Amino acid sequence: MPSETSKNFINHLLSSALSGLKLTSYLDVLDITPPSNPDFGDYSSNAALILSKKLKINPKEIAGKIVDAINNIDLEGKLESVTEQGGFINFKLSQKFLLNNLGTIIDQRDLYGCSVLGEGKTVVVEYFQNNVAKPPHVGHLRSSVIGDCLLRVFKSQGYKTISDTHIGDWGVQFGILLYAFKTMKPDMEVLEKDPINELNKLYVAMSAKIEAQAELRDLAKAEFKKLEDGDEQNRKLWQLFVDESLKDFERYRILLGVLPFDYNLGESFYEKHMPEVLAEFQEKKLITKGETGELYIDLESFGLGRCILVKSDGATTYHLRDFATYLYRRKQFNFLKNLYIVDNRQSHHFKQLFKSLELAGYPAEKDSTHIDLGFMSLPEGAISTRKGTTISLENLITEANKRALKIIEDKNPDLENKEAVSKQVALAAIKYFDLSHNRKTEIIFTWDNALSFEGNTGPYLQYTHARIHGILRKSRNNTELNAENAERGFPRLSASDSASFRDTELSVLRKLIQFPEVVTQVSQDYFPNNLCNYLFELSQTVNSFYQEVPVLAETDETLKSFRLNLITATAQVIKNGLYLLGIEAPEEM
Ligand code: ARG
Repeated sequence: MPSETSKNFINHLLSSALSGLKLTSYLDVLDITPPSNPDFGDYSSNAALILSKKLKINPKEIAGKIVDAINNIDLEGKLESVTEQGGFINFKLSQKFLLNNLGTIIDQRDLYGCSVLGEGKTVVVEYFQNNVAKPPHVGHLRSSVIGDCLLRVFKSQGYKTISDTHIGDWGVQFGILLYAFKTMKPDMEVLEKDPINELNKLYVAMSAKIEAQAELRDLAKAEFKKLEDGDEQNRKLWQLFVDESLKDFERYRILLGVLPFDYNLGESFYEKHMPEVLAEFQEKKLITKGETGELYIDLESFGLGRCILVKSDGATTYHLRDFATYLYRRKQFNFLKNLYIVDNRQSHHFKQLFKSLELAGYPAEKDSTHIDLGFMSLPEGAISTRKGTTISLENLITEANKRALKIIEDKNPDLENKEAVSKQVALAAIKYFDLSHNRKTEIIFTWDNALSFEGNTGPYLQYTHARIHGILRKSRNNTELNAENAERGFPRLSASDSASFRDTELSVLRKLIQFPEVVTQVSQDYFPNNLCNYLFELSQTVNSFYQEVPVLAETDETLKSFRLNLITATAQVIKNGLYLLGIEAPEEM
């Protein structure tokens, strides 16, 4: 079962020391981080600096007292040192502790990095959100890939997860599409073969017509109104659009290798709930009638303008559907957290949503989060399917596969199942490109950046993992591991062995111990790029380790076993980390 992380251990020491000093009321100041200079230790706490301000005592004096208190605790040899430096308290883990953790990784294997923090708690993650009758483009990648990663991270921390795509299947755009379908008469044969692209063409053509001839908009709106009112023909056509799109979305899900979704509750699903939501808001006296008959919630005093629920022509809004969505999820799933992974152009929308719900008595500002994403654009400007400035997801994946296959053919022409591996490498490049950017930053998509295979990239991590497996394969051929060793790994150093390790070996051990806390952190702040950075640093650390130190050529058998265990554990952590990113880890490439 998952063990205590080293960070928890240090936190625990600090809080015991503070309570020994009768300073428990300051426990909330505890925040330990790796120090800027790794020579100082593995973790550093600024507790003394904060306490000194509050208590008006010299920080060195408090730090000294805390250090003494910690030294009085039975540390079971887990710490090499705890010292004060410029008011900071620095902790250095002992070699024994680091070695124990190495054993833990080898024992826990795929479970290393898991925890039970989320046990008994439910989190709803909404992502993907593709729109019906439109082909997804590169801009849709972020929400899918980041959502999939967060879902995996939550699962690893023991949460019950609910994933929902919340597809865009309602709104005036369906009036436009219906009107186009009826008046422009699509080619049924093409429609049969390639429905989504054909429907999209119709939509684009009709939008252009409307731009030139504004009065057509009313005709399109009327088609949506008929749809809302249950007109049989419109419902039937709409259902056809939705069914074809769902098939297409599933195809993309598989192409992208993201986990299956629990729900595809589109916006239309909430149609039937809207009257009760309106009634509830009316009853709570939150609704104002505007000059032209529109219904809105007044959020002016919060600087959030007006949140419109029903337009003056009686049409319901995107906002209203989102209120219904929140209330439905709350009742149905009893979530602790409800997360929307959506780009930052909708920040205002979510602020309005959460604030209005608070006014209605729901804790939405606490239990719901808009995980905002920077927007992706092309060097020539915004992505727009309508204007034809777009790169489809399909093209991106095809091109990535081509490039990956070529590289593998150059570098490892004898590799078995080249096609399958190149697909794994291609997806790694695409996904990591998105995941490794801070999610809030705007990204300008270029082919060479998105499909890069060197430096801080998915393929580089895969390569590091495969290279370790290459060494392990060789060592197995050389040493004829017996069955027990093959199962348990190589003979281990016992923690009492006082082998003296090289710095580069210790650096790998120290990096390995951070993995569980990095994963936990992602489950709390929703920044997968920190997991990417961690895995990149781990890979660099292990790569410089075996540039400096012989593994297979080592003649001391104990040291050799230790090093084989060290790289086995590193490969395991890279694999576990890649799994959380939604990236596969081939053993050969
Ligand atoms: N389909 C929407 C769009 O394309 C995004 C949905 C975001 N989620 C939500 N619950 N409003 O803009």
